[in-house]
Formats: sequence, C-alpha cells, structure tokens
Amino acid sequence: MATSEVTALVLAAGKGTRMKSAVTKVMHSMAGKPLIGHVLTTLDGLPFTKIGIVVGHGREQVEGYLAKVGQPHLESKAWEIVLQEEQLGTGHAVLQALPQIPAGCTVMIVSGDQPLLTQETLGELLSVHRSSGAAATVLTAYMDDPRGLGRIVRGEEKVMSENRFRSVSSIARIVEEKDADDAVRGIKEINTGTYCFEGDVLREALAHIRPDNAQKEYYLTDVCGYLTESNMLVTGYRMRDAQEAMGINDHCQLAVAEEFFYDKIRRYWMREGVKMVCPKTILIDADVRLEADVTLYPNTWLQGDTLIKKGARIGPQTTITSCRCGEDCVVSYSVAEEAVVGEGCLVGPFSRLRKGCILEARAHIGNFVEIKNTTIGYESKANHLTYIGDAVVGKHVNVGAGTITCNYDGIHKHQTVIGDDAFIGSNANLVAPVSVGTRAVIGAGSTVTKDVPAGALAVERADQRVINNWETKK
Ligand code: UD1
Ligand code: CA
Repeated sequence: MATSEVTALVLAAGKGTRMKSAVTKVMHSMAGKPLIGHVLTTLDGLPFTKIGIVVGHGREQVEGYLAKVGQPHLESKAWEIVLQEEQLGTGHAVLQALPQIPAGCTVMIVSGDQPLLTQETLGELLSVHRSSGAAATVLTAYMDDPRGLGRIVRGEEKVMSENRFRSVSSIARIVEEKDADDAVRGIKEINTGTYCFEGDVLREALAHIRPDNAQKEYYLTDVCGYLTESNMLVTGYRMRDAQEAMGINDHCQLAVAEEFFYDKIRRYWMREGVKMVCPKTILIDADVRLEADVTLYPNTWLQGDTLIKKGARIGPQTTITSCRCGEDCVVSYSVAEEAVVGEGCLVGPFSRLRKGCILEARAHIGNFVEIKNTTIGYESKANHLTYIGDAVVGKHVNVGAGTITCNYDGIHKHQTVIGDDAFIGSNANLVAPVSVGTRAVIGAGSTVTKDVPAGALAVERADQRVINNWETKK
C-alpha cells in the first residue's frame, strides 16, 4: 500500500466567463466566503504536506485574499501559489505545478470552483486510491443530467495481483462532452474533476498530452486514457451524493449551491443544540460559531466571524456581522457589525451597533439608537433615539432619549467620556471632547461644551419665560 506524502493542487486559474463578472470565478462568495476559501478549508483538514494553488486569471484577487486570510484557512499547511500565465487547459495548469511536486508524492487535484466537496469524500478518495494501488483514482458521480461534463468510459474488471484479491472496475478514458459521440454522451457517470495521481506517473503522462481536441486545450483528463494504454490501472471512486460535486460556472449554479450549503449549515447547528424558528428564513455564514441553546428567530442573517454564546436570542429581522454576542443576550430587529454584546444585554428593537462597540454585561440599547466605537458600561442604558459615537460610558449610566454625542467637528472625531452613575437628561448634546464626571447630572435639553465635574449638575438652557394671557393679547 502506498503511504507516500500527499500534495494537493487546487486549479483556480480559469476565467469563469459565464459569471459575467469583474470578480474572478473562485472569488465569488458562497455563504460569506469565496469559493476557493471553502475548498481550502476542506483541504486544511486532510493529511496533505503541501498545497499548491494554480492561479492565472484574476490572480491579484486570489492572491490578495490568500495573503489576507490564507493562514486561518491553512493553519497547518505549507501552501504555494503557482502561476499559469495562459489558460491552456486543466492539463496545462497541472504542468505548471509539476516543479512544486516532490518526487514519489501522491497528488490530489481539486477544482477551485467546487465548494461543496467535503473532507469526508476527499478522505475516502485518498484511501481508495491508496488501497487499490492504482496509478490514478478519479472521483466520479452519477448524474441524471450529465450535460457539459466529462464522461467516464469504464474499462474491464482488473483483478489486482499479489496479496490483494480485489477486483476493480477500471476507467478506460474520460471523454469531454464536446468530443463525445452519442453513445458516450449517453453515459451518466461523470468526471467530477477531482483525482488522485501518483505524482511520478502523472509527470510522465502529462509530457504526452496534446491539445488535439475540440477545445484545443491540454486536457488533464487525457492522462487517464494514456495511463490505461500504458497498462497502468486507473480506477474510479463513485461518490454517494452527486450534488456535492457540483461545480460553479454561473450565478444560477452559485445560487443553487449556496442554498444547499446554507441548509446544511442550519442542520449542523440544529444538531448542535441551536433552536431555529422557521429555519428556512435564517442564514448562517460559513465561519459563524454558535453555542447550544441559542435561539434564532426568522429573517436573521449571521455573517463573518460571529460567535453567539449559549442562551442568546437573536432576531427576528436581525443582521449580525463579525460580532461576539454574550450569554443570554437578546438582539431583535437590529443591525450589528464588529461589536461585542455582553452577557445579558438587551439590544433593539431597531438598534444599530457599528464597528468598535463594546456593550458590557446587562447594558440596554433600545429603539432608534446608533452607537459607534463606544464602550457602554455594566447595566448602562440608552433606550431611545440616541447617537453615541467615540465615547466611553461608565456603569449604571442612564442616557436619556434624544441624546447626541457631537463627536465630529467636520475635520476630526473627538471623544466623550461619561463617568459611572451619571444621568444624561433627554435631548442633551455632548459636544466632544468633553467629559461628564461620576454621578453628574445633565439637565434635559442642555448643550454641554465644558467638562462637568463629578457629582455636579450642568444645565444649559435659557430660563423659561411664561407670558400669561398671551392668547387674549394677540
Ligand atoms: C473539467 C473536466 C471535466 C469534468 C469537469 C468537472 C477537463 C478537460 N475536463 O471540465 O471532465 O467533468 O471539469 O467540473 O479537465 N483551470 C485552470 N487552468 C486552465 C483551465 C482550467 O486552472 O487552463 C481550472 C478552472 O479554474 C477550474 C478547473 O480548472 O477550477 C476546471 O476547469 P473548467 O474549465 O471548469 O473545466 P471543465 O470544462 O468544467
Ligand atoms: Ca467547470
């Protein structure tokens, strides 16, 4: 049994013409993550010693993404970018990567546009390849509608020699649809575009591939026919769930794949103890993490690197992007981005938490309140119609309805600091930079431009005039 090292190659140089987009195909997002990100996450969990990523068309986009998030996806792996200047076919793409493949290595080749393939399936492909001792193993699938895909032409049963007594159905060759006759087009077993090859054999076979076909391309699939003709074994591992093999070529296919993926994510989290009301309306992106006993209400979308802790209730009608939501917090009808919501906080309905907000435990942010780059202390409240930006608010502070921190002078942003137990009366303007001391009180309607000491009352408003009998004088 071959137990050599395994290198993975991801083919991601193609243009993706049918996406009709300035975004290169593998960078289109599915559940908040580029297609290639899904593929790399899957590969990261498998025993590869090295991953090569073949880029070409739109390579700055792919390289930019890998530079930014490559490490988290490929925590334990060495990976390398291989450039395919001109896209002359899948065989040509692999040729460019050959120098990166160590001698004696097994190579798994996957496409960057097949985001639904699972670690389980790829792991099975690898173990089938190893145990059969084949020169190549193709991941195949049965499809009712195989249009557009390469067809698997099976060969004779081969009985393995020596100490292995398995008979294996071999693959004679793979024929692209454009090169197929009617008989071959009738075959429903297709090439998923994922393979294991013995690297040295692959190297030797690729040297013989010629672009004499309908598309004038170097087909990787021709390697299979060549190996069979050279009396080497090419076998297939037929996967159970053909949908997993789906490749993305246009926005219709992307939408189908995305829906399938969201459904899978929902089922995963429900099995992990998350309660969902009307699950079909709930979207949970790929990198979101949830704890048991979280409840999600309809029309909730959790995005980015979000973590929701146990007992939290999120939604309905809420979008949360890259936030930490603490135990037992409640967020309803709201939008939150890059914020931390502490344990037991109440947010919403109709609140907006922008980047850089930290709500300490049991804080309340109510309806029509926007906060940005602000810390709200333990048990502090801003319940109605308020804007708080660039502020540090202490514990047990009450921010009255209509309070505004005037943080922007047209050029610079300034900070507002509010001490513990302070009381900000309704409709106050706090013109930053300004500080309000602990236990200080701001009278309703005041425009505060000077610091207020601890324990003081600041009132800034004209004295009220009352003119009696005004109506009759008029
Ligand atoms: C390929 C297979 C086909 C299989 C199908 C499954 C060949 C000749 N055919 O066809 O048998 O059924 O996948 O989806 O391999 N790529 C490059 N450089 C290139 C060309 C392609 O990196 O020069 C990459 C693409 O970005 C893509 C992958 O290779 O990720 C597959 O290429 P694509 O053009 O989609 O191949 P298909 O025609 O779909
Ligand atoms: Ca394809």
